[in-house]
Amino acid sequence: MPKPLVAGDFATFSEQEVALGRALFFDPVLSGNRNISCATCHNPAYGGSDGLALGIGAGGTGQGTDRQMGQALQRQARNAPALWDLGAHQVRRLFHDGRVEQQGAVIRSPAGEHLPEGLKSLLAAQVLFPLIAHTEMAGPPESNEIAAAVLKGAPDAWGAIAKRVGAVASYRQLAGQAEIDIAGIANALAAYISTTFRTNGSDFDRYLAGERSALDADQRAGMALFYGAAQCSQCHSGPLLSDQAFHNLAVPPLGPGRTRRFDPVARDTGRLAVTDRIEDSYRFRTPFLRNVAQTAPYGHNGVFPTLNAVIRHHMNPLESLDSFSVPEGIGHYVDATELRRRRAAFEAYPPKAQVPTTLSQRQVEQLIRFLNSLSAPQ
Ligand code: HEC
Ligand code: HEC
Repeated sequence: MPKPLVAGDFATFSEQEVALGRALFFDPVLSGNRNISCATCHNPAYGGSDGLALGIGAGGTGQGTDRQMGQALQRQARNAPALWDLGAHQVRRLFHDGRVEQQGAVIRSPAGEHLPEGLKSLLAAQVLFPLIAHTEMAGPPESNEIAAAVLKGAPDAWGAIAKRVGAVASYRQLAGQAEIDIAGIANALAAYISTTFRTNGSDFDRYLAGERSALDADQRAGMALFYGAAQCSQCHSGPLLSDQAFHNLAVPPLGPGRTRRFDPVARDTGRLAVTDRIEDSYRFRTPFLRNVAQTAPYGHNGVFPTLNAVIRHHMNPLESLDSFSVPEGIGHYVDATELRRRRAAFEAYPPKAQVPTTLSQRQVEQLIRFLNSLSAPQ
């Protein structure tokens, strides 16, 4: 059993830094065409995500599950993760493919040596990336000065964003500085996320701290399965319920993918794109499960509408992959070759543990009841 998650697992921040981060998180000024904020896709009303399988970036209209494509270039490639507990010291790998990660004192990211100086955490490094993605916040290349700067390189684009934020007097005041740089913006966003999106004090934490009555009989039965016969904790381990490693669960492909230059079809190869190791094909980070009951839909591409569906998939990945049909309303095709590739990769490099196919529906329900105990106190 893990240790409970406690306030001491998180860094502390000044109230001003958190206030600056909160204001920026909800402010479309950070987006190229001033039409989308972090909160559009990481919406507190949807458990810190957007309620959609694949979200809609700059140019879309509306909020949450009512959001429409509008002028957006394409759907997001992946499900927007909720931001729970990402400020905890234990977190070492961010994004579904871990492309922003901490190795000792070093932060590795797609920006390589261009990562700005002065970032105080891994989370601060992560928040720099949605800002400079054309389909996420920057908008089409020709449409504004930030999106245009992206083509010259990340540092140019980050500079343009800092200039914009620095022009707002109330932000200079909150920052307590005459000038705001991109590291200050990133640190403030990380401070807000880290302080606000926390689940310590969940029923599970109270149970782990010795309060036996915090979980009812079904939740305790679900927990026993999770840490025993159902094999869940082989991968969903530690206080955040993730080994932060990558596994291929043969999740059906959906959406535009993160197609690379030489890819013959639209696809998302997961961790392979970071490491170039063939065994990492279609592997995705084991998701953190805290507050998971609030963050439907599930999977790296949101292909599973309910906890029941995603657990059933774990029990028989290949059967689930073979019988997959695109849910209505997503508006995306599934390529038959791509289905076969996912199957072949699963067979060549199966995950390190397999959930038994024999779990009864009652046991699945107990597991779901247990997952509900991982929710934040409010
Ligand atoms: C258009 C929707 C959208 C917007 C706007 C957006 N994000 Fe995200 N965010 C995503 C998606 C999708 C992912 C997952 C991408 C991946 O794994 O490749 C993600 C990933 C993240 C992660 C990593 C989570 C994890 O579990 O590893 C953090 C942190 C984050 N976003 C913070 C932010 C912040 C801060 C902003 C504003 C500066 C922001 N996002 C704006 C959609 C969005
Ligand atoms: C072999 C490792 C492994 C085992 C064993 C495992 N999981 Fe997972 N789980 C994962 C990975 C990896 C994903 C993400 C897969 C993807 O999106 O491609 C995932 C996804 C999930 C999700 C969706 C979370 C989200 O936010 O999208 C839930 C819920 C979940 N697992 C619960 C369980 C339960 C309950 C068990 C035991 C019955 C279990 N898992 C066993 C690795 C594992």
